[in-house]
Amino acid sequence: MKQLQAKPSNGLRGELTVPGDKSISHRGIMFGAISEGQTTLHHFLTAQDCLSTLKAFQQLGVPIKRDGQTVVIDGVGLHGLKQPSHPLDMGNSGTTTRLIMGLLAGQQFDTTLVGDASLSKRPMKRVSEPLAEMGAVIETTDGHLPVMIHGEQLHAGDYHLKVASAQVKSALILAALQADKASIFVEKQPTRNHTEIMLKAFGAKIDCEPDNVTLTVHPDPKLTGITLNVPGDMSSAAFFVAAGSLVPNSEIKLLNVGTNETRTGLISILKRMGGKIHFSNEQSQGESTADLTVNSASLTPIEIGAKDIPAVIDELPLVALLAAKADGVSKITGAGELRVKETDRIAVIVEEFKKLGIAIQELPDGFIIDGTKPWHVNNPHLSSHGDHRIGMVMAIAALLVDEPLTLDGADSINISYPEFFDDLATLL
Ligand code: S3P
Repeated sequence: MKQLQAKPSNGLRGELTVPGDKSISHRGIMFGAISEGQTTLHHFLTAQDCLSTLKAFQQLGVPIKRDGQTVVIDGVGLHGLKQPSHPLDMGNSGTTTRLIMGLLAGQQFDTTLVGDASLSKRPMKRVSEPLAEMGAVIETTDGHLPVMIHGEQLHAGDYHLKVASAQVKSALILAALQADKASIFVEKQPTRNHTEIMLKAFGAKIDCEPDNVTLTVHPDPKLTGITLNVPGDMSSAAFFVAAGSLVPNSEIKLLNVGTNETRTGLISILKRMGGKIHFSNEQSQGESTADLTVNSASLTPIEIGAKDIPAVIDELPLVALLAAKADGVSKITGAGELRVKETDRIAVIVEEFKKLGIAIQELPDGFIIDGTKPWHVNNPHLSSHGDHRIGMVMAIAALLVDEPLTLDGADSINISYPEFFDDLATLL
């Protein structure tokens, strides 16, 4: 049980460099592993999820050394992975699991994937079914982990994705690299495009149509190792973007944050709500980055729907928090995917927000939140439900309350942001 910081009297002030991007860190290991030659990752995210990826690839026979946030991978090439001697433990990481399914479906050996209790409840057929259309042989356990992958020669895919998921898209792209001919995938909506950007930097040939949803992936590329500076994670910076906006008298500068436009939904939403956020030092080679300065602001309510969701999927609990202090009623819909994240984030947010007396109503695919109703603490014992992002959003909510609150399961932050509480303390 962790004691949370209550409302700071002088606002939040200071400068932070948030840890490396989780999506990019995972992919850096994976794509480095299947390239020829050496890949070096700087500012790698040393959180549990990315360490699950690192360990899995070591067990697949890839020499990988880590010294703090620097990782050096001696790539074995697309056909050089070795059968692991034990089932691969995916821990809590959905990204590791789904992407590795696409990659291992086309290898010449069999693998078993296992994961923790939360990951073992998350849907895997969304990956195994489209992969099966490419000739993959994958046995799930009622659509979940444990999953058995029987490596096969894959055929080209021609597939319209049924869910807006970068994880599913990325699994298909990794399978398509090993297919007999070029594959075409059409997304339901554009989702984060790190796989496409990064694989191209390693030498893959992927054509992205101007409609932003159609991709052609050419097989058997010559992938060559690269050196990559992993930008700060927008999804981690997001906690301080929300905190700086909501805690009166705040000014926070977040340095070198990834600003890929498939990830900046929170920034657009905050601007629409009247938030004060300013980008400086913008860089745009490969993955774009900027320094973000956020100041406290009075917020107006917002309505967001399905088309807004992919670019803000991991930040929706924070959008709910912003809405809970906005000057009116906000409505978030089209976010049913939240129910299959590390927890059912719709149910869990509603349960935790009600402890603070926030006027929130659960919808099948989102929430209605009345920010005009004053908060009143009904129960000071908050819980992360074992979900890193829920733990951190409740720690930010605590900054808006005078009473002392506690958080159960605070160590879940280690999944994506082990330094979260230390970084927050530097702003007080
Ligand atoms: C991720 C994609 C998203 C996101 C997850 C990381 C990725 O999941 O929620 O935290 O790295 O591809 P979906 O693509 O399944 O929505």
